[in-house]
Amino acid sequence: MTDIDIRVRINGSSRTDRVPPRLTLADYLRDRCGLTGTHLGCEHGVCGSCTVLLDGEAVRACLVFAVQADGSELTTVEGIAGPDGELSPVQAAFRDHHGLQCGFCTPGFIVSATAFLRDNPDPSDDDIRDALSGNLCRCTGYQGIIRAVRAAAGSWTDRDR
Ligand code: FES
Ligand code: FES
Repeated sequence: MTDIDIRVRINGSSRTDRVPPRLTLADYLRDRCGLTGTHLGCEHGVCGSCTVLLDGEAVRACLVFAVQADGSELTTVEGIAGPDGELSPVQAAFRDHHGLQCGFCTPGFIVSATAFLRDNPDPSDDDIRDALSGNLCRCTGYQGIIRAVRAAAGSWTDRDR
């Protein structure tokens, strides 16, 4: 199959690339763009560790082909912090409330929780559990993650959207 030209904006920067039609968005981000914060766990849509924002929506980058992102705006975990490296409210809350241990799942949780809180700034614990049920963590037992998202919701302001 012939390679295809794509143009995307990733974390605020535009780029063009020629990619094979079967290249996943996750492999494109990691191998072509060097954005290795997008982690690959299961590679078939179960664990959520590869979650990125595609035109603002949280998607599993292992289930999207890079060519499907042509013309899109992408945000990876590397683009969640402020321009000067200041942690986002979600990132700071994960640090402060023990929302991570080994950190493998953390980029996916950060991206998922960021999109969730943008759309649901005042969630209940059940809402948080429901929203993050597609992200798996083998370390934390989830309690620290729930606390972190709850805390981030408390510090979420219009400035952060
Ligand atoms: Fe994509 Fe697990 S690596 S969902
Ligand atoms: Fe290790 Fe979640 S912190 S898998």
